[in-house]
Amino acid sequence: MTHDSEPSLPPATPPRLKDSPDWLYLLREFDALYRHGSDGGSAPIRSHRKRVRDALSATIAADPALTLRAPQAKPVTAHLPRALDLGERAAMQGMARALREVRADLTWEYGYAQMPKALARKYAYCEVLGPHGPVPSDRLILGFVLFAPNTTYPQHSHTEIEESYISIAGAWSENNAAVYAPGSLIFNRSGDEHRITTGDRDPCLLAYAWTGPAARLGAPGMKLTAPRRARPGA
Ligand SMILES: [Fe+2]
Repeated sequence: MTHDSEPSLPPATPPRLKDSPDWLYLLREFDALYRHGSDGGSAPIRSHRKRVRDALSATIAADPALTLRAPQAKPVTAHLPRALDLGERAAMQGMARALREVRADLTWEYGYAQMPKALARKYAYCEVLGPHGPVPSDRLILGFVLFAPNTTYPQHSHTEIEESYISIAGAWSENNAAVYAPGSLIFNRSGDEHRITTGDRDPCLLAYAWTGPAARLGAPGMKLTAPRRARPGA
């Protein structure tokens, strides 16, 4: 017996970027930040910003087919509505609004083979462009990282990868150096050790960009640096 009320679905063809306005406009927000924001007078940040926008422009111009992934939540994503609400009231409101439009399609993940239990409840990231999609690129990764209030993201560094964060919502600090508010850009060169802490009242949402060799972007091998007390002889 057949159910003739169920129409047969057409074969699934992945949509192209230009037919996916929510993803395209989200990328345009990244483009605006890396094109029109300031480098603060720093030559390495100027070069990084150029690498990001060149790779992003090339991807948009190529109009790739999207690599759609299964949406996935993590415990920290319970804080996403508050983070977006704060973001929409602050300097990066365009980015927060564009992210809200794709929030049901985001794949939140941890990226570490070994995940400390406490951090698993308070942190996750999602990629919006990169080797794993949803917008494919082998030259650049763009994404978001979300932290619950009062989180410590342990010390780590990235081999052959340059990283910038742009604050969207909440207050945070890196290496106890300053308190960053929405609109701030923080740059970590390859090998720079960094540790992040977030304020105790609200979640913290950061946009990030990674540039580096294609092989490294495809398999960054993220590892938290061992705490000082665990190092032999320390
Ligand atoms: Fe990092």
